[in-house]
Amino acid sequence: MTIPVIIDCDPGHDDVFALWLAAGHPALDVVAVTTVGGNVPLEFTTRNARIALSVAGVTDVPVAAGAAGPLVRPLQTAEWIHGENGLGGPELPEPTVPLDPRTATELIADALTASAEPVAVIATGPITNIAILLRDRPELAGCIREIVWMGGSTERGNATPYAEFNALVDPEALDLVVRSGVRFTMVGLNVTHLALVTPAVREQIAAIGTATAGFGAELFDFFCRTNDELFGMPDGPLHDPVAVAVLADPCCVEVRRARLDVELLGTETAGATSVDLDDMLAREPNAWVAVGLDVERFWAGVAASVARLA
Ligand code: BDR
Ligand code: CA
Repeated sequence: MTIPVIIDCDPGHDDVFALWLAAGHPALDVVAVTTVGGNVPLEFTTRNARIALSVAGVTDVPVAAGAAGPLVRPLQTAEWIHGENGLGGPELPEPTVPLDPRTATELIADALTASAEPVAVIATGPITNIAILLRDRPELAGCIREIVWMGGSTERGNATPYAEFNALVDPEALDLVVRSGVRFTMVGLNVTHLALVTPAVREQIAAIGTATAGFGAELFDFFCRTNDELFGMPDGPLHDPVAVAVLADPCCVEVRRARLDVELLGTETAGATSVDLDDMLAREPNAWVAVGLDVERFWAGVAASVARLA
């Protein structure tokens, strides 16, 4: 049995690998891809999603553009990690995958209602599109099997001392989604910082020898360089595919039930995710939180998916 999934993303190097892990995985059926302004403005993230799928030969999945910016705040981007066009490194081809004329929320709504079974949503950027959907079409919440989101952290941040980038960009959207009652899993930096693109991983992907793998190897070169320059992490953490792994291969990621609250007001801590792993606040748990990763199994899954693509 495959799980139908919608991927909402802001490519971004690691978002590309999230798309590939999902598209190449036998446990998942990607029914739609939607984009959001995040790592770079929407125009680039949308084009990059189409390029990622085109390179991989995935031509049968509709791609629609969503929100250009967060619900209430101005957009913050991350060119410092991903380059001006969001996919620094390889020469980017013209995408052959077309842009669907629907908005992201229209496409998601159509995909949810067309499916015979509940559809999972994997979000790997600021979670604005999903918040808009749940705000404007609350009757569709029951059609969502669950939401798995890469973002936040049980520890410190990467965009401010306490906020992870996707959470920082649109904390109001995150708060709305967490409160929606739809099953929600947060896959934060505390686990994605284990998914390091080591020299061995780079060799493992390059050795696949396909067009997709070659493109991926060039993405890794750039991504590891910027992570080294900015964070002193030459083995850059490939955050977003870890969220895909939660659904594709649940044995890979350990999750725990916990209370998750989002800081909206803090002058220094907006976007921080407060995860009460020790039940200090005695509040009702409202989320699943990733707390462990089988690193070897994760990379084997990524490599196997990439190898199934063009
Ligand atoms: C997240 O922020 C983005 O730069 C990455 O694509 C990932 O989704 C990591 O903090
Ligand atoms: Ca992302």
